[in-house]
Amino acid sequence: MRILTGLQPSGQLHIGNYFGAVEPAVRLQREGDAFYFIADYHAMTTMESPERLRENTRRLAVDFIACGLDPEKAVLFVQSAVPEVNELAWILGTVCPMGLLERCHSYKDKIAKGFSAEHALFAYPVLMAADILLYDADMVPVGKDQKQHLEVTRILAGKMNGRFGEGLFKLPEPIIAEQTAIVPGLDGQKMSKSYGNTLPVFGEEKQLQKLINRNIVTDCTPLEAPKPVEGSVILQLYRLFASSVDYEKMVDAYERGGVGYGTFKKTLFEAYWEYFRPARARRSELLAEPGYVDAVLEKGARKAREEAAGTLARVRRAVGLGWS
Ligand code: ADP
Ligand code: TRP
Repeated sequence: MRILTGLQPSGQLHIGNYFGAVEPAVRLQREGDAFYFIADYHAMTTMESPERLRENTRRLAVDFIACGLDPEKAVLFVQSAVPEVNELAWILGTVCPMGLLERCHSYKDKIAKGFSAEHALFAYPVLMAADILLYDADMVPVGKDQKQHLEVTRILAGKMNGRFGEGLFKLPEPIIAEQTAIVPGLDGQKMSKSYGNTLPVFGEEKQLQKLINRNIVTDCTPLEAPKPVEGSVILQLYRLFASSVDYEKMVDAYERGGVGYGTFKKTLFEAYWEYFRPARARRSELLAEPGYVDAVLEKGARKAREEAAGTLARVRRAVGLGWS
């Protein structure tokens, strides 16, 4: 079974990315043949500077390994190290109705946020379908917001099979962790770089502590009064890091009253800081040894290109490109 996912190198890794994408990918690396990549072509649709793109791509590779990706189990590579994906995207584009892309929320959301309506942003789901189909993925762990892109992928695979032969492509299944499907941000909306409400996985201790203390929204229930459990951002985040016993303890303390939000935030910070302690240690080691990450990415790219070449030869033959 092939498991595949991509992460855009478009900013600092936050705990929404971690629980929505990284942690499930790390968990799944043992269950099959895992292919994970850093989607730098995709990030070009929203990134302005080449230096930033290059820096973020490297940093994400480091962070992914620090968070538990095991290069002996999973193939890790940079998307653009396999430019063949663009050829498949073009081929898929020939069966992709405009209306299908016009309905995609992520495109509409980005336009609403002020990004200009470029072709690459519009065609983003086609490249994503090519990412998935190029490697014959069976399972694709993603956050809920990517569900529609997986539907587009399945539709395009189905159309290709209908036109060029059943069995040309597998139809991939999304894997969406329902419990952590949407990690709330510090302000209670979905956590996202674009809302500026993120809690990074890696960062300075003092700065992160401040972020939790100052930026997590709370109501103005007095210290001695019981606090509403429903909708509490502190509780929702604490649940991600704490054991169920500790989580229930905090719920009890909310319901009893007598404990202030400052104390809950302190407990949340400690649980969060402790949770990522091993990843932080691993990350420091990786940063001290940059050649290691380069070698992992090179080996990953070689493996990915081999796979890609096999699929493309099959597809080119099926659609009538070339002579063989
Ligand atoms: P952002 O919204 O910060 O720009 P991305 O769109 O780059 O994040 O998402 C990268 C991955 O992390 C995707 O698989 C996405 O579904 C997942 N993800 C992002 N934010 C969250 C969140 N708040 N909760 C769960 N998963 C998330
Ligand atoms: N669009 C995904 C995101 O923003 C990243 C991505 C690109 C991806 N290609 C993919 C995810 C293929 C899964 C499979 O998170």
